[in-house]
Amino acid sequence: MCGIVGYIGNRDAYPVIMKGLQRLEYRGYDSAGIALYDGNELNLCKTKGKVADLKKLCDETTSTKGHVGIGHTRWATHGIPNDVNSHPHYSNSGNLVIIHNGIIENYATIKKELIKRGYSFQSDTDTEVLVNLIEDVMINEDVKLGKAMQIALNQAVGAYAITVFDKRKPNELVVARLGSPLAIGIGENEFFIASDASPFIEFTSNAIYLEDGEMAVIRLGKQIKVRKIQDDSLVDPYIQELQLNLEQIEKNGYEHFMLKEIYEQPSAITDTYRGRMLANEGIIRMAGVDDNIERLANAKRIIVVACGTSWHAGLVSEYIFEDLARIPVEVEYASEFRYRNPVIYENDVVIAISQSGETADTMAAIKLAKEKGAFVFGVCNVVGSSISRESHAGAYTHAGPEIGVASTKAFTTQITVLTLIALKLAKYKGTISDSTFRLHLQELDRIPEKVAKVLETNEHIKIIADKYKDVSNCLYLGRGYNFPVALEGALKLKEISYIHAEGYPAAEMKHGPIALIDEQMPVVVIATNKGHYDKVVSNVQEIKSRKGKIIGIVTEGDEAVRELADYVIEVPDTIESLTPLLTTIPLQLLSYHIAVMLGKNVDQPRNLAKSVTVE
Ligand code: G6P
Repeated sequence: MCGIVGYIGNRDAYPVIMKGLQRLEYRGYDSAGIALYDGNELNLCKTKGKVADLKKLCDETTSTKGHVGIGHTRWATHGIPNDVNSHPHYSNSGNLVIIHNGIIENYATIKKELIKRGYSFQSDTDTEVLVNLIEDVMINEDVKLGKAMQIALNQAVGAYAITVFDKRKPNELVVARLGSPLAIGIGENEFFIASDASPFIEFTSNAIYLEDGEMAVIRLGKQIKVRKIQDDSLVDPYIQELQLNLEQIEKNGYEHFMLKEIYEQPSAITDTYRGRMLANEGIIRMAGVDDNIERLANAKRIIVVACGTSWHAGLVSEYIFEDLARIPVEVEYASEFRYRNPVIYENDVVIAISQSGETADTMAAIKLAKEKGAFVFGVCNVVGSSISRESHAGAYTHAGPEIGVASTKAFTTQITVLTLIALKLAKYKGTISDSTFRLHLQELDRIPEKVAKVLETNEHIKIIADKYKDVSNCLYLGRGYNFPVALEGALKLKEISYIHAEGYPAAEMKHGPIALIDEQMPVVVIATNKGHYDKVVSNVQEIKSRKGKIIGIVTEGDEAVRELADYVIEVPDTIESLTPLLTTIPLQLLSYHIAVMLGKNVDQPRNLAKSVTVE
């Protein structure tokens, strides 16, 4: 992971880079650093801690002058988070300085070789090894930075997005990517470099996204030269016009991004189906599906690959695809799938779900699936992301930027897209009637207003959060479509409040978790009036007789669970397949408030990162 930022142009580089690092902090936040060239000196400032700590240190101790510089916010892979391991890293001569997002897997071998040749190292990082390898190539082969970087990267195994600056060439930055994202913003005789476009969106909407295996030499007053790292061939770069705006990536008065993103769900879900679904006409149009309808509808099997919250959305889709389109579905952790020897047939469809579109394990899983001849369909949020480009076809979720590390609106919009796809395939295959199809469309069209209604329970949820904020464990139960919601609710609580939580299918409780229930144990039970309501009510009774504390997520007007539960949170009625879009919301708010009450850093929980571009 990690976030990287660079600037070269006429502005003061320091505020541009610092602001950019703050925007990229979701990618990692255990240490940060910046290097600025003031015309004479290359000034370096770095520290363990967050970007705010870095800013304080730089303001107090370092010259912040200069029109060219690079900055980094880190999520440690090699070497613990401390001042020395923070990026940027110098080469031994002090001429080169590097920032790196990714992992160089063969760094130990290269390091040994360099030590033999007299190089010394300050840090434990793979990055410092890479910058010295580049320096070594420059000296031994007598080549310029761009060429040296190319030669060095051809020896490196792993993943990277890097930016290197040579203080002897102050008008130039050299960048490269393989497996980690890198965007170049193009202004009027100025260039921005970043892991995503958010650091430069207020300066330019023109950007080049480097493809895997490409590098670029960025020189003031010159056209950017993009080449393939492997064979040096020149590439004609595609300049994209970005749709992102500044408002989308700021907090807009909310205390945390997570809360803002929870509250954005009514509009995010609407944006997801806007222009795709005409509820009254009974039409779904999705280019990625329409253009490949035969391939998708004739799939003998769908394999979903994803990680984290996206994997939970995949589990919900298993119910939807099987229920509506009658296609068997397997949902796989991408990290497991890629290292098994999975049986994949050519008529399998692999659906990769990823908010960021950059998750390394998901990316590797789809590459494997493609090699084995499967058709890969990507469901991503970030437009132009690696997974969306690597897929044969796909559909974006259009949720807008998600900054909070704990995923919220990405989850509900993923479910929305997957529902649309399943409905479309079901209609095409004739596995659902016209009236069922139309009913789904009309109900989906009402979901945003129903989500808004669930959001009105916020104050009530705060009371419940206050009551249970000090527990050490929590159990989440759900059945059918709401079993994955139970998993997601438990994950949210773990991620941001550090309270141990487990999600379980309600009926499985009797095979283990029931042993944990006593008067200390809160159990969140999703018990909407659809599916196996009566059976879930029996589970609630079982919890009650063991003195567990019950928080029921119920349909408006529910009586049976209300009678047994300590608290209930009501959600509006809807058809069963769409209940996850409603029942998820109170669980997001519950974990949010508990984490805030416990004083945790909600948007940047410890040890986590938003985009996991390492294995
Ligand atoms: C990280 C994030 C999670 C996310 C997961 C998968 O662990 O913290 O919130 O669900 O990665 O990310 P993706 O971008 O592929 O959906």
